[in-house]
Amino acid sequence: MRIKIAPSILSADFSAMGAAVKRCEAGGADLVHCDVMDGSFVGPITFGGQMVKSIRPLTKLPLDVHLMIEHPKTQIKFFAEAGADIITVHYEACAGISESYLEETLALIRSYGVKCGAVINPDVPAEKLFPVLPLCDMVLVMSVFPGYGGQKFIPEVLPKISALRALAELAGRPDMDIEIDGGINAQTAPLAVAAGANVLVAGSALFGAPDFAAAVKELRG
Ligand code: DX5
Ligand code: ZN
Repeated sequence: MRIKIAPSILSADFSAMGAAVKRCEAGGADLVHCDVMDGSFVGPITFGGQMVKSIRPLTKLPLDVHLMIEHPKTQIKFFAEAGADIITVHYEACAGISESYLEETLALIRSYGVKCGAVINPDVPAEKLFPVLPLCDMVLVMSVFPGYGGQKFIPEVLPKISALRALAELAGRPDMDIEIDGGINAQTAPLAVAAGANVLVAGSALFGAPDFAAAVKELRG
């Protein structure tokens, strides 16, 4: 299975985001991972749809928008219209609202012709995503608690990746995208891939590297 590399622009220089996005493409990345934080679901605030709209014309790479926000349904329109190619929403942000909120949000994303995915935090079991798997183009397993780049990889999440890969295979979708996010570097990427992940998000390991393209290659393995 082809390994896709998704640099997280959270670790880029926010005063030069255009250059960072161009660097992703020139460096051989497959997606641009955009971390949207609202200061409530997670502590920090990063950026919104306006940023996605501004970087959209600067690259042909798909924009992978990771929403770490409360009430994600209210924001889908803005990110879809800004040009997101895939939008992922957290199970934890939806579960407290209603039983069907995650499903409804995924359907709303799709209604804009945008790919959709569901995300779980490190302390949430993989089983929580099983019911929505048929609705998702991708699932995202967090390997750190969201909010900050540069945290240490939590290896205990790896069996969840294997469980989701096994279920995807059972469902006749062996090529389903399973993304992992947090603490991915040259040491942890092979563990994630061995467990069944095929989309690797990396912030500090790429934007902190002396040679971005070489670091992308190294992660790809
Ligand atoms: C964490 C974000 C991640 C983060 C990854 O809240 O969702 O995408 O930027 O950064 P690294 O690769 O440095 O852990
Ligand atoms: Zn992310």
